[in-house]
Amino acid sequence: MEKTFLMVKPDGVQRNLIGEIVARFEKKGFQLVGAKLMSIPVELAEKHYGEHKERPFFGELVDFITSGPVFAMVWQGENVIATARQMMGSTNPKDAAPGTIRGDFGLTVGKNVIHGSDSPASAEREIGLFFKESELVDYSKLI
Ligand code: CMP
Repeated sequence: MEKTFLMVKPDGVQRNLIGEIVARFEKKGFQLVGAKLMSIPVELAEKHYGEHKERPFFGELVDFITSGPVFAMVWQGENVIATARQMMGSTNPKDAAPGTIRGDFGLTVGKNVIHGSDSPASAEREIGLFFKESELVDYSKLI
């Protein structure tokens, strides 16, 4: 079953949007297989955003994501990586369609409420950075 990494960013946690965001993915039909409220250490933030290291906003990105608690999650389901990205909307909330998470709740590209893996390779990498295998649950034996 395909899995993705999603994270409510510090602005979303601060604005009490965890429940709203979790509800959207639950109602869509995806299964939550791992979740934790955590503060991200700087080293983990730098690894997570490693592909943006050369960008001018890298320092700002790391400062923001480590500035307060985040809600890190792993979700599974058919085509969950691409579908979750559609449900999140464009990275910059000013371009995000109404009805998407960023379209409904975001205002700026930095404080854009949620992060989601953009490909199967990123999903695998990001899940591995934030979760141990033992922290993910298994629904396959449910009767
Ligand atoms: P995210 O999906 O977490 O992945 C990288 C993040 O970089 C992105 O969401 C944005 O929040 C952030 N980002 C992209 N462009 C800019 C920018 N110009 N200034 C600040 N942050 C940015």
